[in-house]
Amino acid sequence: MSDTGKIKDVANTPSTMSTGAPAVSDRNSLTIGADGPIVLHDVHFLEQMAHFNREKTPERQPHAKGSGAFGVFETTEDVSAYTKAALFQPGASSEMLARFSTVAGEQGSPDTWRDVRGFSLKFYTSEGNYDLVGNNTPVFFVRDPMKFPHFIRSQKRLPASGLRDNHMQWDFWTNNPESAHQVTYLMGERGLPRTWRHMNGYGSHTYMWVNAGGDKFWVKYHFHTEQGMEFFSNQEAAKMAGDDADFHRRDLFDAIARGEHPSWIMSVQVMPYEEAKTYRINPFDLTKTWPHEDYPLIRVGKMTLNRNPENFFAQIEQAAFSPGNTVPGIGLSPDRMLLGRAFAYNDAQRNRIGTNFHQLPVNQPKVPVNTYMFDGQMAYHHSGDAPVYATNSGGRPWADETGAVADGWEADGTMVRTAYTLRSEDDDFSQPGKLVRKVFNDDQRAALVETVAGALLGGVREPVLSRAFDYWKSVDADVGARIEAKVRNHAAAKPVQGMGEG
Ligand code: HEM
Repeated sequence: MSDTGKIKDVANTPSTMSTGAPAVSDRNSLTIGADGPIVLHDVHFLEQMAHFNREKTPERQPHAKGSGAFGVFETTEDVSAYTKAALFQPGASSEMLARFSTVAGEQGSPDTWRDVRGFSLKFYTSEGNYDLVGNNTPVFFVRDPMKFPHFIRSQKRLPASGLRDNHMQWDFWTNNPESAHQVTYLMGERGLPRTWRHMNGYGSHTYMWVNAGGDKFWVKYHFHTEQGMEFFSNQEAAKMAGDDADFHRRDLFDAIARGEHPSWIMSVQVMPYEEAKTYRINPFDLTKTWPHEDYPLIRVGKMTLNRNPENFFAQIEQAAFSPGNTVPGIGLSPDRMLLGRAFAYNDAQRNRIGTNFHQLPVNQPKVPVNTYMFDGQMAYHHSGDAPVYATNSGGRPWADETGAVADGWEADGTMVRTAYTLRSEDDDFSQPGKLVRKVFNDDQRAALVETVAGALLGGVREPVLSRAFDYWKSVDADVGARIEAKVRNHAAAKPVQGMGEG
């Protein structure tokens, strides 16, 4: 075995059993005479069948359909004033893995269904693995993790028929108006990227950076594609879903195989720690962006994807990303969604891959591990007979930081179940309204009207339909009126099934 887990020189090694003993035949089972029954002691045959029955693991729930590639992140600028993280020091270079995905579709679903796209990054840094698990949009549909499973179910399939359902999707969105900003992105061009290479990525949440002096900052991550943003029209995407359901997966793999290595420039918006307390919008609300006039982009470095997986299952399907995987100099924030996610991913992976998923080559850090998590199914790394408890007298180190934590923040108050406290300019519709009026041009607004009307005509019933018209009129009066008119007279709009996945 190599350190990546790959069997060495498979082409020149005779076929064996899993024990390494020679395999007898990979073509014929053992029978009593040429036409007789198979015998039970054909161990090689039975082992093959039994392993086949277990060769798939549960797909990710959500973000099941995707793929990825390895690459490198190079820090080209000096942001040491904001973070001490080794990977972001000038000149640092870290190996990395990226995985792109759709959210709602299953493993075999078409890459070009309208959806948000996942943008997951794992940096194998000199201080341990750092994961940034974002999307191709800077915001999200909800701002409390309690709503997340409900949201995902509303975007997946009906319990009786197993069908995708526009009515259910719009029922959820219109009952949760904080979704308007992300739904506007989704119904716009971002919902149909032409390829994964032609889309931007965002950390979306607000994270903390801490510098060597202990000063704290709030940051938002942006990855701008150097290939330029490109999109499919509804018609192109629908055709491609039939022609090649794996179009995005194929595009990335083929481009890298041709030596065309896609790259993204990473920048951050930085907010001084104290400013978050009084900023006019809640800077930890995941449905909001930070206006660039207040917090301009600061360039950090460049990510380049240059190596395809050698084995999709081992290196992409079994890859495990978690927003909770941070390194010194980077922390989380009071964003409730982020705090909920810090639990969800590792737990999903213990279920999806197995207790010791972190020991697999693709998930292993490049630095030594000395964890007190031990044993469990498929344990491979072990600590010999070193003490398995801390504190111990056997000389095995244990961690013992006490007092205020380097990446912490203050919190106080009575335990409550309630929404975030509203700031002076917090509301659900101003930012999506600005997106429609100031960022979209006439053609993009017309395409938005067409796409939303098409989705609403694809089976959305009252009272959800009327709520949807009000929702869009709250985003923008004119766009809302045009959507309503188009749906009411069934004008040129074409019904679309199964769109608008989240
Ligand atoms: C409370 C909110 C959320 C919860 C509980 C949640 C939970 C999950 C879970 C359980 C998975 C599957 C993980 C696995 O099996 O490996 C997943 C995948 C994913 N989620 Fe979330 N999620 C949330 C919000 C978000 C947000 C806000 C984003 C983006 C900003 C996001 C982006 C992704 C991506 C990109 C993946 C695919 C990871 C991969 O490529 O392996 N999720 N999510």
